[in-house]
Amino acid sequence: MSSVVGYIGKNYSWDFVIDALVRLEYRGYDAAGFACLDSKTHEILYRKSVGHLDCLIDKVADDVIDGNVGIGHTRWATHGVSTEVNAHPQFDEAKRLAVVHNGIIENHHILRAQLRGEGHVFYSETDTEVIAHYLEFVLEQKKHAQISEVLVSMVERLQGAYAFICILQQKPDLLIAVRKGSTLCIGIGDGEFFVASDPIAFAGRCEHVLYMPDETFALVTRQEIELYDFEGTRLTFSVEPIDIVWEDTGHEFESHMLKEIYEQKQAINAGVAFFKSLHQSGNLWNSLGFKPDFFKNLNQLMLFGSGTSWNAAQIGKFFIESIAKIPVNVALASELRHMPFFPGENILHVAISQSGETADTLEALRMITAMNASTLALTNVPSSTIVREADGFLLLKAGPERSVCATKVFTSELAILYVLALCIAFEKGVITQEEMDEGYKKLFIAAQALESTLERYKYEIMATYSPRYAQYEKFIFIGRHVTYPFALEAALKLKETSYLFAQCYPAGELKHGAMTLIDEHVPVILYSHVDPAIYKKLVSTAQEIKARNGHLIVFGFKGQEELAEIADCFFEIPTIDPLLGPIAMAGLMQIFVYYIAKELDRPIDKPRNVAKTVTVE
Ligand code: F6R
Repeated sequence: MSSVVGYIGKNYSWDFVIDALVRLEYRGYDAAGFACLDSKTHEILYRKSVGHLDCLIDKVADDVIDGNVGIGHTRWATHGVSTEVNAHPQFDEAKRLAVVHNGIIENHHILRAQLRGEGHVFYSETDTEVIAHYLEFVLEQKKHAQISEVLVSMVERLQGAYAFICILQQKPDLLIAVRKGSTLCIGIGDGEFFVASDPIAFAGRCEHVLYMPDETFALVTRQEIELYDFEGTRLTFSVEPIDIVWEDTGHEFESHMLKEIYEQKQAINAGVAFFKSLHQSGNLWNSLGFKPDFFKNLNQLMLFGSGTSWNAAQIGKFFIESIAKIPVNVALASELRHMPFFPGENILHVAISQSGETADTLEALRMITAMNASTLALTNVPSSTIVREADGFLLLKAGPERSVCATKVFTSELAILYVLALCIAFEKGVITQEEMDEGYKKLFIAAQALESTLERYKYEIMATYSPRYAQYEKFIFIGRHVTYPFALEAALKLKETSYLFAQCYPAGELKHGAMTLIDEHVPVILYSHVDPAIYKKLVSTAQEIKARNGHLIVFGFKGQEELAEIADCFFEIPTIDPLLGPIAMAGLMQIFVYYIAKELDRPIDKPRNVAKTVTVE
């Protein structure tokens, strides 16, 4: 998982490559690299560095290289640790060709063994080096063949999902782009072409983009693009206007995560206003890509996603089942492909993804689409692959989220799932217009509570709680009903930002075994619930924890005195609709883990070992 970019044209390539890599750093930042063809000698020149892009920028500044044909890469390590040798570009033995690659070559072991048998020597642990050597091998075998024939022979042998870009010393006016599964697109400029994993890389530099169809390769020269399928048939293609803008989000916050935590109320309101205006104009269902009747007859939903989006899906299930009164299944995208799947006519499958590029989610979507089942993408990125591949799409309107740790997108996903539940319920005649309006109001109040609670406690958290809790090594998170998946999200946030160990349990399940973990060294963070029956059960769990010397941190609602009395630390949240507790508590939960991570001096926006968009399965 990584980002790949390439340039060919009238200008030098470094300027574009580095700007594009900065924009695509959300896909990985373990290492980076750049290679170009020397404009006179056509020799391959390159620089690589371990760590963030700044290291590569410094290296090229110290020892400048450039050329009119260039490729670049930021890496999220899959095969081999983050070293300069394992960084991309990777080369053939004689460094006559260079490759940058995103994805995984699943049969790289077999190919490596075959090539070793032919005398090839490998220096890195990467599957990418196998691509480079295999291309060298086929080029050698098919010396007199067209390059398109060479590539057909090559892709026949490559298994997995991948996108790679390649430059060749022997063909100095050529950039090769190959795509199977992983996204790759080509920006069409004036006398220049840009290749990248995501069109955001060249937004603003050109006006049209070719989204390479799956299982195709492109031969890009300074004059034209030739597009072929994997059988070697030349394809005609059409290009689309680029309607995205790259916003350089300068801001006065100390990190993107903090900024995005503070943007939540506005993000929720923007998404809901957009949704509401579509509904009021009578265009909602058509603009989602479905006939209104489809929603009237809908009798089941399946929500799926990964990470934070999966957690949001689990909370969304409560919204839809409680409000629209139809059953909802939730699936983890990475598991969905291995589960029995039962398509049905009146079932809607909703893929939830901030980026719209998560490989697990995309592959699950593709599996469902292949069975002719109805799909809807819920995403924050209109130009994403998921939007192009689902039957319909619904945008979050949260604005760009740059921190690796999802915050505003989580609450925006919740808000949109809530209003989707209202609209389905209305369409099916389960609720009236007044009840729907009431639902919008409740959501607005929850968004207010998110912000007011954040403001109320932020200084106390900074001054008292984060220094205190940063001393602990392990935490247990618990919740019940909607606050259980919320606790899952909170535990994920703590792990991601602070690298502390966090285990999450449904509160009622502790007594079935995990109670052994309770002692004064492992704080338990309990997320309460407004519903009195659920609250009562949570009080019992809290008492059981205290009876075993546990240290209890409670996020409770106004008037929940019993919990407030037994907690070692109590945060009070205004009372809101019971279903919307997760939205009201989100800002406080996020800021709590944020300041613990800060106390531990973690690189909050770019935690180790992860990336914003995970493009490998
Ligand atoms: C957590 C986080 C990840 C993502 C997950 C899915 O803070 O950011 O767990 O939620 O990788 O990403 P999307 O929503 O882009 O599919």
